[in-house]
Amino acid sequence: MSAPEVRLRGVEAGDRDRLLAWRNLPEVAAWMYSDHVISPEEHARWFAAATADPARRYWIIEMDGAPVGLANLADISREHRKCAWAYYLADPAVRGKGVGSFVEFCVIEHVFGALGLNKLNCEVLIENEAVWKLHESFGFRREALFRAHVWKAGQPRDVVGLGLMAADWAGQRPVSAERLAAKGFDLAAAVVG
Ligand SMILES: CC(C)(COP(=O)(O)OP(=O)(O)OC[C@H]1O[C@@H](n2cnc3c(N)ncnc32)[C@H](O)[C@@H]1OP(=O)(O)O)[C@@H](O)C(=O)NCCC(=O)NCCS
Repeated sequence: MSAPEVRLRGVEAGDRDRLLAWRNLPEVAAWMYSDHVISPEEHARWFAAATADPARRYWIIEMDGAPVGLANLADISREHRKCAWAYYLADPAVRGKGVGSFVEFCVIEHVFGALGLNKLNCEVLIENEAVWKLHESFGFRREALFRAHVWKAGQPRDVVGLGLMAADWAGQRPVSAERLAAKGFDLAAAVVG
C-alpha cells in the first residue's frame, strides 16, 4: 500500500504569508482557540515572536513536496521535561489520508528522542472529538477537562487536556509504528528536519 511522502521542515521567513492565509481559513480557525480574522500586522508580530522564542518550534508539514500544514511545539521546559504541541492540515482535502497520524508519530519521536523530554501535552476543543480520539490512539491520556476554557463566537467551550509520558510511548510505539507501516508509511523517514 502506498502512502504520501510526508516531511516536517523548519518554518522559514518565506512561509510567513502562507501561514497567515492558512490560519485565517475557516476550516482551520474553527479548531483553534481564537477565530477572529487575523490582520497582516497581528500576524507579523506573532510570526516574529514565534520564530524567536526558544521555547517554541514550528515546522511546515510537506506532503509529496508541497506545503500542506503546520506543526508546532510550545512551552518547551527543560526544568519540567515537557512541552505542548498542536498541528493542522490547511486543506481539508488532504485530511483523512494518514498524514496527521504520521506527523503525530514524528513529533512524539522527536520530543522523547532528540529533545529528551519526559512528557508531551496537548489541548483539544471537546467537540473536536476525532482529534482527541486520534491522540488517545497514540497513547495520550485525558488528564483534564477544562470547563469554559475558551470563548469562541461568544460561547464558552470546554477543552480536553491530554498527556503522553515517555514511558507510555515505550509501550505504545510498536503498535503505532505497525499501524502506520500497514498504511504504507516509511517510518525510517519519521524524522523532523
Ligand atoms: C488533526 C489533523 C491534523 C489530523 O490529520 P489527518 O491527516 O486528517 O489524520 P489521519 O488521516 O491520520 O486520521 C487519523 C484517524 O483519525 C480519524 N479522523 C481524522 N479526522 C477525522 C474526522 N474529522 N472525523 C472522523 N474521523 C477522523 C481518521 O479516520 C483516522 O482514523 P484511523 O487511524 O482509525 O483510520 C487534521 O484532521 C486537521 O488538520 N484538523 C483540523 C485542525 C485540528 O483540529 N487540529 C488539531 C487542533 S488541537
